Amino acid sequence: MPDRKPSSAIDALLEEQRVYVPPNDFRDKATIKDETMYAQAAAEPDAFWAKIAGELDWFVKWNRVLEWREPDAKWFVGGKLNASYNCLDRHLRGPRKNKAALIWVGEPGDRRTLTYWDLYREVNKFANALRKLGVAKGDRVAIYMPMIPELAIAMLACARIGAVHSVVFGGFSAEALRDRINDAQANVLITADGGYRRGQIVPLKHDADEALKGTPSIHHVVVVKRGSFSVHIHEGRDHWWHELMDGVSDHCWPEPMESEDMLYILYTSGTTGKPKGIVHTTGGYMTGVYATTKWVFDLKEEDVFWCTADIGWVTGHSYVVYGPLANGATVVMYEGSPDWPDKDRFWQIVEELGVSVFYTAPTAIRAFMKWGAEWPKKHKLTSLRLLGTVGEPINPEAWVWYQEHIGGGSCPVVDTWWQTETGMILISPLPGITTLKPGSATKPLPGISAEVVNEQGERVPVGGGYLVLKRPWPAMLRGIYGDPDRYRQQYWSRFPGVYFTGDGAKRDKDGYLWLLGRVDDVMNVAGHRISTMEVESALVDHPTVAEAAVVGRNHDLKGTAIAAFVTVKEGKSSDSELAEQLKEHVVKKIGKIARPEEILFTADLPKTRSGKIMRRLLRDIAEGKAVGDTTTLADPAVIARLKQKYEEQEG
Ligand code: PRX
Repeated sequence: MPDRKPSSAIDALLEEQRVYVPPNDFRDKATIKDETMYAQAAAEPDAFWAKIAGELDWFVKWNRVLEWREPDAKWFVGGKLNASYNCLDRHLRGPRKNKAALIWVGEPGDRRTLTYWDLYREVNKFANALRKLGVAKGDRVAIYMPMIPELAIAMLACARIGAVHSVVFGGFSAEALRDRINDAQANVLITADGGYRRGQIVPLKHDADEALKGTPSIHHVVVVKRGSFSVHIHEGRDHWWHELMDGVSDHCWPEPMESEDMLYILYTSGTTGKPKGIVHTTGGYMTGVYATTKWVFDLKEEDVFWCTADIGWVTGHSYVVYGPLANGATVVMYEGSPDWPDKDRFWQIVEELGVSVFYTAPTAIRAFMKWGAEWPKKHKLTSLRLLGTVGEPINPEAWVWYQEHIGGGSCPVVDTWWQTETGMILISPLPGITTLKPGSATKPLPGISAEVVNEQGERVPVGGGYLVLKRPWPAMLRGIYGDPDRYRQQYWSRFPGVYFTGDGAKRDKDGYLWLLGRVDDVMNVAGHRISTMEVESALVDHPTVAEAAVVGRNHDLKGTAIAAFVTVKEGKSSDSELAEQLKEHVVKKIGKIARPEEILFTADLPKTRSGKIMRRLLRDIAEGKAVGDTTTLADPAVIARLKQKYEEQEG
């Protein structure tokens, strides 16, 4: 039965009963086979993190593990290391030298494999090329590229010489690029003539030229020739990548970086205001991503690891580049879209490359569900042994579908919770030992202290509330670039002495955590605080539904009424009878309190470019208001269609 105990923060309504125990053969071979790490980390956190940091290569060992003056943390103080050295040089000493580091697949079907030694040479050469352009330690370098190997090479080359990279997702507009370059005062931009997406060319250099009209700090632009796309070359400022690399040495001394020297800035758009430049430093970040890649993905020497995220997001930074390469893994990188040329592109790649660990986002999984199980069925996916998800709460139905149709019913699924700000996974199962509950990210990793608290900041032992982090962790953000006040205000002011994630969560009687989405997305229906995520999960539980987005709109009587936007699976029809059935389904799963007042069927939902549903815009539609800022939408046309449909339905 759903838990109906009132809580001062967020009510926890849905209850998922299914559990999945790790298969015996998985458990037997797992890197982590028992729970002792949790106790060790809790008893002596500094010693615990120091032991893991010691698995990296340091030029100079640290003298203090942690200096904590809230809200400023310093990890491995006095230590010196280099991130690119840890991802490359140290693997050249043994049998990994000619192991594949990157297997890259271009959207049109081209493929490149770079061994660790190849990657080392490319990075060293490009690091020398950057030095030739005058780039020095501490300079900011903006990167605006498609998903091609040069993107990872450019990041590692920056890290090698101590320059701070700021990767701007290649799907962002010229305006977004310009603002990010100006905020970081970058002096070099690395881009490409273009990239492929759904068979179309993304004109990156053209857009970059637009941005460069308003970026006085940029002195040099490096352009990779990805295709034969025509571009304008600005003499004196623009340089072709291949020409710069011509004749440069393939050895470049790695800059010994202080543990707290900046590694990168990555911009994340909050719900309001200008994007925040999240700052990550070197020693703690590398320790955090190295450790979590090893634990959560249970990495083995022979694994083929594919994280489908674009490197323009933090998931790509931590789990395409730094985490897996620090572990000496074979990483798959794919340039294009999952439905190009057809809806089985991912499964074709899994089969062809023998991918064993696969990490993607719930939004992608829901798209796979919508397209139907016949697409993965066309391919032999038996190489897969572990699946992961990140980015949003995953509805239990999507989790189970993923486990069954992609994982063949035998792969553990790790639902990993973290943020751009946290740098590394913080809440996740350990696949060899954690009993899984679909829809729950399970428990904080060893060394991580995450709690659910109420309005007053008091711990909620069972029930819903706000997710906070009580102890610093190595890969935590060190601030917002150039804005220390905003850093303190945003993360450290809501509850004294702890980091506020901005997410709602509930803790069940077994201590499992269930993420409920951003607290801005909580609805207050007749005095109950209900998370949109739970109503969405109840809707997706219905066999016809592929995806749902729920918002609360103003209502004369209830204060708030629930409006649901629903996408049905391919081949299913939607009508008013189905709408009634769905409302009743929510009542059955959660209770009358969560019954949607109205349901609108739609082919698409408005999403950010990283695939997160923009409920704020749906709320505007449901309230008949002018729709707010749509600049971060992946496809702004979705909103116009939805608005028209909503108005027709509401008469
Ligand atoms: O709301 C949480 C959601 O994504 C937010 C962080 O977004 P971003 O900084 O773009 O980083 C995404 C990739 C790490 C979180 O505050 N989120 C992320 N992972 C999960 C999640 N919500 C529920 N379950 C998750 N596994």
